[in-house]
Amino acid sequence: MLTLIQPDDWHLHLRDGLPMKDVLHHTASRFGRAIVMPNLRPPVAKVADALAYRRRILDALPAGSGFEPLMTLYLTDNTSPEEIFLAKRSGFVHAVKYYPAGATTNSDSGVTDISICHDALEAMSECGMPLLVHGEVTDPLVDVFDREKVFIERVLSPMKRRHGKLKIVFEHITTKDAVDFVNENGIGATITAHHLLMNRNALFSGGLRPHHYCLPVLKRECHRRALMEAAISGNPKFFLGTDSAPHSRSSKESSCGCAGIYTSHAAIEFYAEAFEEAGALDALEAFASFNGADFYGLPRNEKKIALVREEWVVPESYPFGDETLVPLRAGGRMAWKVAEE
Ligand code: DOR
Ligand code: ZN
Repeated sequence: MLTLIQPDDWHLHLRDGLPMKDVLHHTASRFGRAIVMPNLRPPVAKVADALAYRRRILDALPAGSGFEPLMTLYLTDNTSPEEIFLAKRSGFVHAVKYYPAGATTNSDSGVTDISICHDALEAMSECGMPLLVHGEVTDPLVDVFDREKVFIERVLSPMKRRHGKLKIVFEHITTKDAVDFVNENGIGATITAHHLLMNRNALFSGGLRPHHYCLPVLKRECHRRALMEAAISGNPKFFLGTDSAPHSRSSKESSCGCAGIYTSHAAIEFYAEAFEEAGALDALEAFASFNGADFYGLPRNEKKIALVREEWVVPESYPFGDETLVPLRAGGRMAWKVAEE
């Protein structure tokens, strides 16, 4: 048995409406808080949108849940410094998300050129609002497996030099290059469970595996190892962010399938498995429950959760509004289970 201060998920996609209700309880039964991504259609670009979305999330929570959604704004070419200051004053918007236009799911309203956002980024530096970065270039000439590395060279490095005071989280890092950049520059970074557990072979094992497709795409084994080392290193700048991204079965199993891996049904259990495999279960609590809160300047949770070594089988699918979704490891075995309260 393993007892932890209750963890938080610093990168989560909840969607909206009935599908949200079907996934939210998975997160709320494990995590105290989650940073909720704003890539809805239309995006959550204004504080008023975030307020309404937050209310819908709270209304969809199971009765008695103490889960707290931490809201984000979607950065666009038109985000004004005034909106940033308004977000800061709101108390419920905790970060702003930067999607390069066209980089991933619902990113078409994203930023076309980050230099256009100079004033918004300066406002964020001034008031201490973190920028959460989807770190991939969209240049079609850049190989899809190199898009994170090239993003560091072309965008992140210059951004860090230009906005020295800006609090940055490099989201869902997938490469050794990203680990090195975080270590050298003192910015924050989230790491998903799926990037700790799988390398790119998982996309093609025995055939094409749409449920292992996400963005940034899985990388080589050497990169997976670098991520694992970072997660267990004790460097407080690395913290848990699942990037759990639910899509219906039909939109994944398609001639042009969506990017996104759903892990909320077993999120902390997947991380426990990865840390155990690395012989570093004792490093899990800092990564999952302390580092993110410290980075965001929020209090650590006080409640505890217990994980027990007890096998269970992941369902083949879960309800998802009018459809179903296929979770990671569908039909397969989990070694860890969250103990009932
Ligand atoms: O795999 C992903 N899915 N990566 C993202 O960046 C977006 C996410 C989603 O919203 O489905
Ligand atoms: Zn995401």
